Amino acid sequence: MTTEPKRILLIVGGGVAAYKSLELIRELARRDIRSRVVLTKAGAEFITPLAAASLSGDKCYTDLFDLTDEAEMGHIELSRSADLVVVAPATADLMAKAANGIANDLASTALMATDKPVLYAPAMNVRMWENPAAQRNVERLKSDGALFVGPDEGEMACGEYGPGRMAEPVEIADAVEAHFAKNAAGPLTGKRILVTAGPTHESLDPVRYIANRSSGKQGYAIAAALRNLGGDVVLVTGPTNVPPPKGVELVRIETAREMMEASQNALPVDCAVCCAAVADYRPSIESEHKIKKERGGLTSIPVAENPDILKTISQLKNGRPRLVVGFAAETDDVVTHAEVKRKRKGCDWMVANDVSPGEHCAMGGERNTVYLITDEGDEAWPEMPKAEVAQKLASRIAKAISGPTLVKAAE
Ligand code: CTP
Repeated sequence: MTTEPKRILLIVGGGVAAYKSLELIRELARRDIRSRVVLTKAGAEFITPLAAASLSGDKCYTDLFDLTDEAEMGHIELSRSADLVVVAPATADLMAKAANGIANDLASTALMATDKPVLYAPAMNVRMWENPAAQRNVERLKSDGALFVGPDEGEMACGEYGPGRMAEPVEIADAVEAHFAKNAAGPLTGKRILVTAGPTHESLDPVRYIANRSSGKQGYAIAAALRNLGGDVVLVTGPTNVPPPKGVELVRIETAREMMEASQNALPVDCAVCCAAVADYRPSIESEHKIKKERGGLTSIPVAENPDILKTISQLKNGRPRLVVGFAAETDDVVTHAEVKRKRKGCDWMVANDVSPGEHCAMGGERNTVYLITDEGDEAWPEMPKAEVAQKLASRIAKAISGPTLVKAAE
């Protein structure tokens, strides 16, 4: 979207997770984001300046920053040379210094001197993370406007378990990208977009539910792609294991009725993309207690029809979004069924895909082969990763709804 690649100043503190920062440099480079590295003295115990310089393609600045370096690029200039400062791993020590205005080495001086936003990816032992002093520092940094990603919960290098693990490089890169997207003017800036994603769970009793195989990946990728174009995205999602995209408003729901309510609460929007695999039916009675085999168990499940979110939004008399996009997951006669469905539901576009089981099944998989069905006809898109389907669709949406009107007037 932007021509100039973004730049970050990556401050690498002294923690085992420092090795992941090397992968972070590569992950950012893949997204066309350049890194310039400052390595603390403790950080240099874990990774070498040479490794950081080789991967970033730039000089690595260390505490040995000497007068020659200072003449080339002063520490003030260094701290402002990037669009964003990322501290990964952010140790307890680095955060304590930054929270209290201590500047006694290159990294802490750069943090004091910068006029750019700072994103911290904390990494430390769980007890250290939970220590009230560490938490006070985090709160203080947050109230000073700092951004945070992680820490994640899990097994740590020290053998303990809990929160304190540095977020994975992909997660940090997502946070960086989300930050840039949020602050960049794009073709969807000022546009509010609703995306529904994932399956719904329809309860039978306290331990059982009816669901489907949707992973939520395609809907989440669409939300991220719309956000990347500057859109103000509300993602209403059923239960999934996919990490939610940063910088979008996330509303978690379980049932179709909850999805309907959350979607209606998100209105008015300029565009609605209904990607969720909503259960058409729910058990008509949800048992308060676990259904027992001895008491007759289950021989059949009476069902009630769920509300149709796509149809409801498409047929709104007042405040209908300018563009409503539905998805049609079909196993045969994909285009014909999808065309009929588009008319029946009243949406503007239908994205149809083949979900027959097999090696390349879109449901749960990484790739998708879709058809875009509009008033102008059917377009077959080649098989591509879901993220690319999302980008292509997002830019088509941007073209269709760009213009000054926020929400279509009452009809
Ligand atoms: N959809 C919805 N609410 C429902 C059911 C479906 O919003 N209760 C949306 C989906 O998000 C998708 C589109 O409708 O965008 C098509 O979903 P699909 O399940 O294929 O359509 P159905 O009407 O359920 O048709 P069928 O199951 O008969 O194929």
